[in-house]
Amino acid sequence: MHITEAVQRLGSESAFEVLARARALEARGVEVVHLEIGEPDFPTPPHVVAAGVAALEAGDTHYGSPQGSPALRRAIAEDLGRRAGLNVDPEQVVVTPGAKPVMFFTILAFAGPGDEVLYPSPGFPIYESLIRYVGATPVALPLYEARDFRFDYAELRRLVGPRTRLIILNSPHNPTGGVLTAADLDLVAELAVRHDCAVLSDEIYRQIVYGATHESVLTRPGMAERTVVLDGFSKAYAMTGWRLGYGIFPPALVPHVVRLAINSYSCVPGFVQQAGLAALRGPQDAMAAMVDEFRARRALLVEGLRCVPGLRCRWPQGAFYAFPNVTGSGLDDRTFADELLGTHGVATLAGSSFGAHGAGHVRISFANSPASLGKALGRIGAAMAALRARAEAR
Ligand SMILES: Cc1ncc(COP(=O)(O)O)c(C=O)c1O
Repeated sequence: MHITEAVQRLGSESAFEVLARARALEARGVEVVHLEIGEPDFPTPPHVVAAGVAALEAGDTHYGSPQGSPALRRAIAEDLGRRAGLNVDPEQVVVTPGAKPVMFFTILAFAGPGDEVLYPSPGFPIYESLIRYVGATPVALPLYEARDFRFDYAELRRLVGPRTRLIILNSPHNPTGGVLTAADLDLVAELAVRHDCAVLSDEIYRQIVYGATHESVLTRPGMAERTVVLDGFSKAYAMTGWRLGYGIFPPALVPHVVRLAINSYSCVPGFVQQAGLAALRGPQDAMAAMVDEFRARRALLVEGLRCVPGLRCRWPQGAFYAFPNVTGSGLDDRTFADELLGTHGVATLAGSSFGAHGAGHVRISFANSPASLGKALGRIGAAMAALRARAEAR
């Protein structure tokens, strides 16, 4: 049996591996606090569930349009049009099973051998995995702690060149909680237009911000014909398991993306799309309450982390992750995360699993109860004290 080299180049998401290790510990009776999770710990709002169930009962259980239902695409276009002040045609919207296929299709459509793709480092690990899969050259765009996990302008100017086909942005950002500023987006747009490259703007956490304002690069001059907006229902509506996302594509790309859908999954289940329609058109109070709760937990977690001697932690501006610097422990981030899980029963993700520039940090999700966060803080404090004493004794 021969397995292609391309498939063997695919990477993975360490969140799934850490979850498996934590579950194995739990099976042996160890109590683990789960801070590795990348999904809201809230239920899908009841009116959204009810819409999905009603659609199932009404027989919406057959093949549908590969591009997505016209009603949902209209609602998505109106939503984006309203908040970004843009005129978005529902024909530019492609509904996908979760948002991940938007990443896959965009990278497949724009990059191949000999092409360069810029991606944030640290960043969602699937970007780099897919760039390598298509045979393109991944070019890391470092995000700096000292700049609240944003890029350096001179460095971005240096990295974008004649071989750049695509620039990937993610704001609010996983794993750091960083949010790009208006000036950051201006520069990306200026460079994308000048070098005639596309931008994939991953905005899946856009509703989850704490004082910062989320803006889309799509609004910048010259960007409508070169921007793909990746978005979806997983995070804002606590719908990770429904698998419902979408992309807003430049018109010229849509027929290709629809063919990719036909070649891979045919269509998104109709009842899932009905649930999505209810999420967009219905009351938004469940989302607002969830973001308020995340804001309170962020305060609890970040203030707690900042009190631990040897830890440094910036305030995340969005999403539900803190990304403390753990170099004061004397360990590298992978060893630190292993020690935290194995010895202290706290599951986090090593920063370097999000790329080389994540080294020295761990990602801590605050999608967990205040009681669990409090317990985790106590254990992290104890772990740091023990590690620092060990380092001093050496
Ligand atoms: C930055 C980012 N983009 C995209 C996704 C994928 O979302 P979905 O579950 O809708 O495929 C995630 C999920 O964790 C994410 O963190």
